[in-house]
Amino acid sequence: MDRATRKVEHVQHALSTNEFGANAFDDVSFLPNSLPNSSYEKTSLDCEVGPYRLRSPIMINAMTGGAATTTDINRKLAVLARERGLAMAVGSQMAAIRDPLVKDSYAVVRKEHPKGILFANVGAEATVEEAMAAVEMIEADGLQIHLNVMQELLMPEGDRDFRGYLERIHEIKERAAVPVMVKEVGFGMARKTIRELAQAGVTIIDVGGRGGTNFARVENMRRTEPLSMFEEWGLTTVDSLLEAACDSGRGVHFVATGGIRNGLDAAKAIALGASAVGMAGAVLKLVQTRDIEGGLAALDEWHQQVRIAMTALGAHRLEQLREQPVMITGKTAEKARLRGIA
Ligand code: FNR
Repeated sequence: MDRATRKVEHVQHALSTNEFGANAFDDVSFLPNSLPNSSYEKTSLDCEVGPYRLRSPIMINAMTGGAATTTDINRKLAVLARERGLAMAVGSQMAAIRDPLVKDSYAVVRKEHPKGILFANVGAEATVEEAMAAVEMIEADGLQIHLNVMQELLMPEGDRDFRGYLERIHEIKERAAVPVMVKEVGFGMARKTIRELAQAGVTIIDVGGRGGTNFARVENMRRTEPLSMFEEWGLTTVDSLLEAACDSGRGVHFVATGGIRNGLDAAKAIALGASAVGMAGAVLKLVQTRDIEGGLAALDEWHQQVRIAMTALGAHRLEQLREQPVMITGKTAEKARLRGIA
């Protein structure tokens, strides 16, 4: 199967397999504050993720590029990002590094969002030169390196050799002209991985947990004879943030992607230690089912929800959400207890 067809199938199956239903964020709740001493108008969505100053804690995370039909999706995503000042990542650029004919499907993002904070995206198999080419292609402000071992293993045409990733990440990090963020694609990260990345000098980690787009399910669906294996593999985004919390204080900034459905989920992720959240499937759904006005209305609603949560909790600044006590129940609490966290 060629890469372009795969990109199109990922977009189709990501939407059909994502239930946008219950997930581990439902196990997290805030303690209410009936005397918050706050004002909605005083709340600010400005935030910092490592060296980046962002106007919103929501970023549009890596999805697509590499096929003609994905150009339009990337253009719409970039317009949404530009209009609301969101940071944005493009999908893996390995396709365009190997076939310059599809470069425009990524470059369109910089064209539409000339002043935005944009992230290039490559896999951990990329060489330093390939990573640099990806950054240059979209004049990126940062580079994402994605980790997707289980997805590759479930793809008949996927990689089977995962040796040397950490060394390559370290080398790219040392030589890159822009900051590097390492991300999972929806299987989450355990403490050991986070620690190894931190020791390799990585200072921005997107824990990319389970709960939204499920790439095991996507790859299972793409088979001629669909299977349902490994769909429960990994940690949820909430589990991963709890793992990350064990390592906070090492100078690592965390982004939480995977199953963020709305502004309340974003507020919960920030309370659990994330500096910002990433959304992929939910934003893809917006550009596939609504016009730009409709998409912007949804983003505004999510932003309002974050500010409602902040006001109700007495937090005018996002980092004050971190001081809020949260209650963790259900399967998430049980798993945390088993891992000796709670
Ligand atoms: C993705 N994702 C992704 N990530 C990455 O680093 N490189 C990539 O090329 C892609 N491709 C991709 C395609 C499509 C169609 C989707 C929906 C997603 C993963 C994405 O960035 C994110 O980590 C996961 O989708 C989990 O977030 P959501 O979808 O639950 O918000």
